[in-house]
Amino acid sequence: MKYTHHNNELNKTHLQQEVYLKGWVSKKRNLGSLIFIDLRDRFGITQITINDQSPLFLKAESLKSEWVIEVKGIVKLRSSINNNIATGEIEIDAGELNILNTSEPLPFPIVNDTNTLEDTRLKYRYLDLRRPVQAKYLLDKSKITGIIRHTLEKEGFYELETPILGKSTPEGARDFLVPSRLYHGSFYALPQSPQIFKQLYQIAGFEKYYQIARCFRDEDLRADRQLEFSQVDIEASFVEEKDIQDLAEKILKNLFKKFLNIAIKTPFLRMTYAQAIKDYGSDKPDRRFALLLQDADAFQEHLSFLNDQYLRALRVHHPSFTRKDYDDYLKVIKQNHGNNLIYIKNNGSDYSSSVAKYLTPEFLSQLNLAPQEVIFLSSSNDYENLSIALGALRIKVANDLKLIDETSYAPLWVVDFPLFEYDTLENRLVARHHPFTAAKNFDDLQTNPATALAKAYDIVLNGYEIGGGSIRIHNSQNQKKVFELLKLSENDINNRFGFLIEALKYGTPPHGGIALGLDRIVMLLTHTNNIKDVTAFPKTQSARDLMMEAPSEIDDDQLKEVGLQCRKD
Ligand code: AMO
Repeated sequence: MKYTHHNNELNKTHLQQEVYLKGWVSKKRNLGSLIFIDLRDRFGITQITINDQSPLFLKAESLKSEWVIEVKGIVKLRSSINNNIATGEIEIDAGELNILNTSEPLPFPIVNDTNTLEDTRLKYRYLDLRRPVQAKYLLDKSKITGIIRHTLEKEGFYELETPILGKSTPEGARDFLVPSRLYHGSFYALPQSPQIFKQLYQIAGFEKYYQIARCFRDEDLRADRQLEFSQVDIEASFVEEKDIQDLAEKILKNLFKKFLNIAIKTPFLRMTYAQAIKDYGSDKPDRRFALLLQDADAFQEHLSFLNDQYLRALRVHHPSFTRKDYDDYLKVIKQNHGNNLIYIKNNGSDYSSSVAKYLTPEFLSQLNLAPQEVIFLSSSNDYENLSIALGALRIKVANDLKLIDETSYAPLWVVDFPLFEYDTLENRLVARHHPFTAAKNFDDLQTNPATALAKAYDIVLNGYEIGGGSIRIHNSQNQKKVFELLKLSENDINNRFGFLIEALKYGTPPHGGIALGLDRIVMLLTHTNNIKDVTAFPKTQSARDLMMEAPSEIDDDQLKEVGLQCRKD
């Protein structure tokens, strides 16, 4: 029996029609002389009725939750209308009922509002995905991906694939390694991104590449991070920063228009990395609320116990501020590698402070605090670290005081990143984006590489980095020079990147690109702050797949085949 309608489709216009429906028994109510069945598919619910005169009555009585059935019947007007569902005006008077499959009792009910533990939902993820709210995230992801594909195809980009088994690429995370059966002791690496391949496509002459690419990074998980995730990966030849930025803006503009019916203004604001750190204490500033950080060096003279180069401040109108908040805020500062936190609050008639004995009239008049205003101060010899710690406090305070308009969107570009940062553990420069990023000015690499700026850009939405890219080095010598600055030995360069240095010698066009974090974009457009919601089969915070029970031990034969032995220490 082929179904004629989904379970969200029927209404008064179908009265007296004969229809065929399929789905799961969502609910059954037995009133003695009448049985009501809520039949559910991923589109909605239709009510089926069977009365005790019907030859189907006994069969209907036997139905249990989540059994799969098909029903043939006539559309009838309901006596009491249910405005909560699309088919609430009608019901189906069943003339035929077939049971396609039964179901064991479920570990949790298929309802939108659930207090089932996340671990249980992930163990039975295929059931969790039956919950309409949960299914919607994935269906929305499919829609969003479709809109992105459509925009890129219209702009003349080709979707081209790249290998999954490859060699380590330096995106900054740990690689997932795959042992080789044929070459014991050798490993493939899963791609952290298709970065090198998309550049090789440019060398090969495919001047407009894109791919919805799976990426794999062995890093600590967070609410916006999974071990494997999808990028909208893009690369093009003969482009400058603005070309790629315009394209990314076009993609987002189309998404907002077609998915949310919101017109967003382009071009997006451009903010330098230095400005973002200074004002927001973050390289992914959330601009939906003000609360900018301030330099406060002028107050140093009143706080003689401090002995740091920089003093910075956050001023907030915070009537409910208590000592307990202070303890929480100090924790935030410490978790973000800050040193200390001072507060001074104007209560209206007096002041409270963690440094009460330093509050001279002169200091207070200089502070010029309005009633109920609090100033938070923190000091350090490292301007960037200090700003980042206060930036984390800025977000915490904004959340506590509900200063964020959750319905608004504030996209921007962060530009002019430093090309390198100093790794104090390894005692060397490391690439801030990846080592294929071109410098704004190549001469800086000769004179002062530590302060050289990159032709790199991140796209930021509501405090999330939703994409990053750059113009690449397209000259073999320059690429080699960057590897040398990163203190890679000649041997390392040849072993890891010899093929790239070689490829760059054969007429490489100037090129650049970007990768948008698809999962994060879907999170933002569907208003969740949990990446697991938009991932069909996600890993837990502790990097496990609870359904498959992965990772799992493998047997000795399999290990032997790839030439490995497990150390038990
Ligand atoms: P990058 O490392 O900045 O750039 O990654 C691009 C975007 O991918 C998303 N992202 C993630 N999403 C979920 N889970 C993760 N673990 C995760 N890691 C990154 C972010 C990020 O902005 N090859 C370069 C791009 C280029 O230069 O073209 C790259 O991968 O939204």
